[in-house]
Amino acid sequence: MCGIVGYVGERQACPVIIKGLHRLEYRGYDSAGVAIVHPDGVIDIHKCKGKVSGLEAFLAGKDSSGTIGIGHTRWATHGEPNDINAHPHFSRSGEIALIHNGIIENFRVLRDALRTNGFTFRSSTDSEVLVNLIEYVRESGKCSLEEAVRVALKQVVGAYAIAIVEKGNTSRIIAARKSSPMAIGIGDGEYFLSSDAASIIDYTQDFVYLKDNEVAVIEKGKPLHIMNLDGKDSKVAVQKLKMSISQLEKGGFDHFMLKEIYEQPETLEDCVRGRVIPDSKEIVLSGVLNNKEKFLKARRIIFVACGTSWHASLIGEHLIENMCRIPVEVEYASEFRYRNPILYPDDIVIAVSQSGETADTLAAVDLARKAGAFIYGICNVVGSSIPRATDSGTYIHVGPEIGVASTKAFTGQVTVMTMLALLVGRLRGTIEEGYYHRVAQAILELPATIREALNTAEPVSALARTFTYAHNFIYLGRGYNYPTALEGALKLKEISYIHAEGLPAAEMKHGPIALIDSEMPTVAIATLDKTYEKTLSNIEEIKARGGKIIAIVSKGDDLVRRSADYCIEVPSTVECLMPLVSVIPLQLLAYYIATYKGRNVDQPRNLAKSVTVE
Ligand code: F6R
Repeated sequence: MCGIVGYVGERQACPVIIKGLHRLEYRGYDSAGVAIVHPDGVIDIHKCKGKVSGLEAFLAGKDSSGTIGIGHTRWATHGEPNDINAHPHFSRSGEIALIHNGIIENFRVLRDALRTNGFTFRSSTDSEVLVNLIEYVRESGKCSLEEAVRVALKQVVGAYAIAIVEKGNTSRIIAARKSSPMAIGIGDGEYFLSSDAASIIDYTQDFVYLKDNEVAVIEKGKPLHIMNLDGKDSKVAVQKLKMSISQLEKGGFDHFMLKEIYEQPETLEDCVRGRVIPDSKEIVLSGVLNNKEKFLKARRIIFVACGTSWHASLIGEHLIENMCRIPVEVEYASEFRYRNPILYPDDIVIAVSQSGETADTLAAVDLARKAGAFIYGICNVVGSSIPRATDSGTYIHVGPEIGVASTKAFTGQVTVMTMLALLVGRLRGTIEEGYYHRVAQAILELPATIREALNTAEPVSALARTFTYAHNFIYLGRGYNYPTALEGALKLKEISYIHAEGLPAAEMKHGPIALIDSEMPTVAIATLDKTYEKTLSNIEEIKARGGKIIAIVSKGDDLVRRSADYCIEVPSTVECLMPLVSVIPLQLLAYYIATYKGRNVDQPRNLAKSVTVE
């Protein structure tokens, strides 16, 4: 989704901003732009629809000199993607330039009020309304820019991260946030600004994360000044971001998504390290251990999440109900937040999010907090908004996920949920010791198991060629692997644009089997587990109606081969960890079909990596 980069210091700002914008490209966007304050104080805005590389070409030969500037990648919410709606936006007088992530919900009311005061608008954006509101407050209140920003933001309903530069001021950027991330990187006599700290780690590892309703005055050569909307000073807390640049690069793979699929043995090793003690099999999750009573007394656990994280949560439901005997509900965060849900003080709400910035999940967390529930986060991006809004939690520690389609975050989330369920089950005495040890051992062996599952890449790639023609796919699974089927279908549709539907295998005969003919391939997860025989029958039913079957089967299993057209063998592990194994060929299948179709797998159309608007 939209991205922000800013710089003020001694360097030329434009190259710093362009590099940062490139790093934010994976989040998905449709236009890009920069505002540079030249040494004489004049602001120039350059912006265009399309890619950051297009913006670079557009800038060639133009004067982009200046040591202060702001840049933006836009993902359209108000007004189509075009040059005019791209950010930055000038205020009416051209004295202020602004970039904005988020949505101003009351922008129509504000725009109408500004129109009655003679303002006109070039774009269809809510952001242009905001920059003019700031200008109006400054002019009518005869106040400083910083004060005008605070006063204007008090009138705004919605979400924002903004950065502002001003004509004639070559040393100061003003930034603010509410429900949309903003990090300030601290250098030596210089400052960097970004909606995602990872985009500027080439320059610094020291960051200050703005909190909701905070305004920062970022001035070259001066200490960072942060205040709330009433002008009261806030504490400036600097945090270290430990991340290497190589973690952000493709490492020889054609796409980030493929790199991230192949990284999973290592990312799961990182995820488990120090959390399952190899000798004793003890599980150490401080987020749980420091809140033991909450988990011992929990009446219910409610997962709130979106997309892939919601699929992982469905697996979490199986894990926790099986091992902890606590009732679990899994909610789409977007539905939960608007449903007036019933929550009890002894409920635990687990918010699951790779980015930690998903607007609906964050809103669900706020709602749960107001209802008095204990909130636990399972997130990847350290220091992001959701972990900061929860009472406790566990990071999945799988490193930056750049490909828009989530892969290693899914396996990290399920791994954390398995450790959590094992630990809580043991604390509550609802799990047998023998089973506990078997699963803990299997978690330790996960990197090797996933490495073996990655051997499916070659046969899956060949299979993908055969099925590039398909317009629809059905994915089937049961038990632990029903959510895996949903995840496989989501992966395919988001990056190949082929329609795909995930279903519990037994549901076929309740309607969807009517879709089956020779043009409708079915991917069936039929690994050896307690529903294996049942899944086999479901496969037979599809076969009998002329459907083509691709089956994901356990290594050495010959039985499914008799009915399926194609079999992909995966290694075995304990049943509750099988989703981590069977998802690997499904990730690969989606990847190869999408690349054979010439799709942009890392930045699929219409999608954003971090969905910071609802
Ligand atoms: C799918 C995908 C999305 C995200 C969803 C939630 O591949 O990436 O469905 O899972 O937007 O995002 P997070 O986990 O960041 O809250």
